[in-house]
Amino acid sequence: MGKLDRLFKRSYYLNEKDDTEYFDYVRDFCYTDEFASMEKNIQHGDISVVQHIYSVSYISYRLGKKLKFDKKAVTRGAFLHDLFYYDWHCPDPSHRLHGYHHPTTALRNARILSKKVGTSLSEVEENIIHRHMFPLTIIPPKYKESILVCFVDKYVAIKEIFISSFPKTKERFFSDVNKHK
Ligand SMILES: [Fe+2]
Ligand SMILES: [Fe+2]
Repeated sequence: MGKLDRLFKRSYYLNEKDDTEYFDYVRDFCYTDEFASMEKNIQHGDISVVQHIYSVSYISYRLGKKLKFDKKAVTRGAFLHDLFYYDWHCPDPSHRLHGYHHPTTALRNARILSKKVGTSLSEVEENIIHRHMFPLTIIPPKYKESILVCFVDKYVAIKEIFISSFPKTKERFFSDVNKHK
């Protein structure tokens, strides 16, 4: 199993004790009502948006640290990249073209939530959120940190769809994860 696959699995059993630095970066956001409200929303397959966010931000954090990028910006930007408070699978006219519009929604929500918890977003963090859907949205990411999160987001989406599509793979994956919980 490759390094990315190991990090993906690891993102399903994070804890404050073993992942202190990661949680130092995301603690401001991960215990808010806004974040908790997303638990019921599905991202890909049958994986929740909340789990998707943990996977993208944790893998981005580990890779950003290894590559000596701005790991705090990578982690926080990735944690807020899909901050939208609806289930995009629901056939509601306001969710139309979700893929194109949600980076702007997420950026708006991220600014509001940051202000509420007493922090503010850096330019790199804002660019990570706003450009993560490239190439669907045509303006490319500006910083190496934004390119990294854009890549990790796609890798995680593929993994989530794959796991959700094959019952045996899913069973094996969650049986491994549960051993670590
Ligand atoms: Fe997204
Ligand atoms: Fe995403």
